[in-house]
Amino acid sequence: MNIIVTGGAGFIGSNFIFHMLAKYPDYRIICLDKLTYAGNLSTLECVMDNPNFSFVKADICDREAVYALFEREKPDMVVNFAAESHVDRSIDNPSIFLHTNIIGTSVLMDACLKYGIERYHQVSTDEVYGDLPLDRPDLFFTEETPLHTSSPYSSSKASADLLVLAYHRTYGLNVSISRCSNNYGPYHFPEKLIPLTIVNALANKALPVYGKGENVRDWLYVEDHCKAIDLIIHKGRVGEVYNIGGHNEMKNIDIVKIICRLLGKSEDLITYVADRKGHDMRYAIDPAKIHAELGWLPETKFADGIRKTVDWYLNNRKWWEDIVSGEYRDYYDKMYGNRG
Ligand code: NAD
Ligand code: DAU
Repeated sequence: MNIIVTGGAGFIGSNFIFHMLAKYPDYRIICLDKLTYAGNLSTLECVMDNPNFSFVKADICDREAVYALFEREKPDMVVNFAAESHVDRSIDNPSIFLHTNIIGTSVLMDACLKYGIERYHQVSTDEVYGDLPLDRPDLFFTEETPLHTSSPYSSSKASADLLVLAYHRTYGLNVSISRCSNNYGPYHFPEKLIPLTIVNALANKALPVYGKGENVRDWLYVEDHCKAIDLIIHKGRVGEVYNIGGHNEMKNIDIVKIICRLLGKSEDLITYVADRKGHDMRYAIDPAKIHAELGWLPETKFADGIRKTVDWYLNNRKWWEDIVSGEYRDYYDKMYGNRG
């Protein structure tokens, strides 16, 4: 089995590659990644010498490069993680989100049609459903929840999802889509809430919390997401959408306090800053379909996962110190410098 994994130098894609190489010793994994600010080759260092792994630096929007790769590798499957993924950046500059997340997806699917494929899998997000009110804890996102996006990021992901379903209906392409809740774990880029809080706390820097910190996210350990995708691409039904989430809803402020406690840092570091524009209140996934059809359940409890994650950042300082000392510094100053 030859699998092209796009965006494999990023957070979830890299964890997926590690999972697949460990579980399927007879599979070949080809990682295609543009190495944007969020892609990091050092993340893949531990698999670079694996004969079943190869890395290709390319842009999913570059039709010529993508077709050449398909021609050469004849993939059986494509799992598309490649995307611009940070909501705040999408609010600042939507256009690259539309280009990568929508056009890039269409180029990959065109290549699948041209060269033939067993399965194209689109890694999507629960953000395509918009948000839920805080005072209705009985409501959850199901696969039937209407798409109702809030940010340029989520709109671009929803557009891509619609395109994927259109390629299935119109051209008969063998597709599947997964919509997962917030992930956390090793190799998470420190612009996102959990790694940013860990990295700032370790430097005794302010811990920025948007608005009142009451927004709720449904956190899932990254390995559980990877296992769910593994199940879907092998056993999931073609043309179907599967929600992935572990019923682990938590307020942002509580997450930040837990990290302070694990690191022995004072909650005085917590700094309330201006809210995100259009900030979604609550995400909550109903994972009944993937559980009933594929037997998936999350395995890592939040208390264990967050401890493992904090330990990983303590034991892998060079990985994130190289990031926060580079161009990320300019991003941080721009995003948080005058936030007040
Ligand atoms: P990430 O930002 O950490 O990584 C994205 C990767 O894609 C990087 O390696 C980057 O270099 C690569 N990339 C970006 N543009 C590219 C292009 N044009 N061509 C080739 N490669 C390109 O993202 P992540 O958090 O690992 O998310 C991966 C996928 O999962 C995304 O599609 C995201 O929408 C989705 N998702 C993320 C979460 C989450 O909590 N992080 C939850 C649900 C779904
Ligand atoms: O739900 C899945 C989505 O989760 C993915 O599709 C996205 O790619 C991923 O980035 C993530 O989106 P969020 O916007 O939920 O994640 P983020 O870590 O940016 O923010 C989590 C919450 O914390 C959100 O309510 C905003 C808040 N926040 C974030 C940052 C970076 C803060 O309060 N302070 C911060 O500094």
